[in-house]
Amino acid sequence: MQSDEQAPAEVSPGGALADQLGRPLRSLRLSVTDRCNLRCNYCMPEEDYVWLPRQELLTFEEIARLAEVFTSLGVTDVRLTGGEPLLRRDLPSLVRILAANSRIQDLALTTNGVLFSEQAEALRGAGLHRVTLSLDTLRPERFLALTGRESHAKVLEGIAAAGRAGFTKSKIDTVVIRGANDDELADLIEYGRSVQAEVRFIEYMDVGGATNWSLDKVFTRAEMLERLAKRYGSVTPFEQRTSAPAERFALPDGTVFGIIASTTTPFCKSCDRSRLTADGLWYLCLYAQSGVDMRKMLRAGVPTEELAERISSVWRGRADRGAELRAATGHRGVFIGIDQLRQDPHLEMHTRGG
Ligand code: GTP
Ligand code: 5AD
Ligand code: SF4
Repeated sequence: MQSDEQAPAEVSPGGALADQLGRPLRSLRLSVTDRCNLRCNYCMPEEDYVWLPRQELLTFEEIARLAEVFTSLGVTDVRLTGGEPLLRRDLPSLVRILAANSRIQDLALTTNGVLFSEQAEALRGAGLHRVTLSLDTLRPERFLALTGRESHAKVLEGIAAAGRAGFTKSKIDTVVIRGANDDELADLIEYGRSVQAEVRFIEYMDVGGATNWSLDKVFTRAEMLERLAKRYGSVTPFEQRTSAPAERFALPDGTVFGIIASTTTPFCKSCDRSRLTADGLWYLCLYAQSGVDMRKMLRAGVPTEELAERISSVWRGRADRGAELRAATGHRGVFIGIDQLRQDPHLEMHTRGG
């Protein structure tokens, strides 16, 4: 262990289960499908993908059982992701089951928005608390170039539907790529204000699946702030950073936006998240190359206490800080090559949840 790291800890200041760096087990991202109806250039740029076998996907009952175990160990924030989670049939039923788990304080969904307008009311009625929608551009022709699909209008409808269905505190996630959409920051902020959603700009990350990634395409947090300060006069830090990945800033008129600078300013030190793939592999880091097979344990009939013990002991041993290690790489390029991704689709961002 290096001298600048914290001492090993078994409990975090709040008394929760803690890992080797003192980070609590608080946030669980549940990917419900690896499929997607877009082909965003930064995530799924290839022609063909190897999909998870359907019989291996966890059922809603299995997901809910694991959620019970995780929440009994301190998880309070659950986020449904994908691929595109709305491609999973009858997602509101899963939301309803999870919403009945009183330990979950924050039950959220990350979606590309294409199917959201059709399901917004059902999801809200089922007890979903919050939604984050992805939107990288306000221009339909750019959307087509970035995602390979003509669904731009559907996404805008989805964003509008969030407010109509009664969702508040919605967020819009924008991955900023140099030369692709870095000239739209202010337009997106204005749009976010018009739909009462907080926009967060995300640095292009060299995660698994980002086979077109290169450092020169990363439009950095510093560049974003400089560009916005030029347009708006001043941009001021809005509040202290919490464990959430976004740093928040305010414009002179009070509009707040966020930046997730995972590429140039990793937030591993405060990372309280782990993720479960749709087929039940538990990953402790977005950059982890292997995970723990929870499906196998579930289907072998392992009792709840043993599942809890296994999760606790794995979390206690966690020392992952993938984004920090990537940032320290000298000649940074594509993280995982296409051959390796084809051999193990679990390495893909769209399998482990963005
Ligand atoms: P809230 O702030 O509670 O709304 O949640 P969130 O920010 O986790 O939501 P979201 O799913 O929208 O995540 C935003 C983006 O942050 C993702 O799309 C990723 O680009 C990035 N991100 C999410 N999880 C991780 C992680 O574990 N590590 C790193 N380095 N980046 C992550
Ligand atoms: N860099 C940054 N964010 C990414 N996402 C997927 N791939 C990347 C990447 N290479 C995130 C985006 C998207 C969400 C589903 O996953 O935020 O909106
Ligand atoms: Fe785009 Fe998300 Fe689908 Fe990837 S998983 S292609 S980022 S919508």
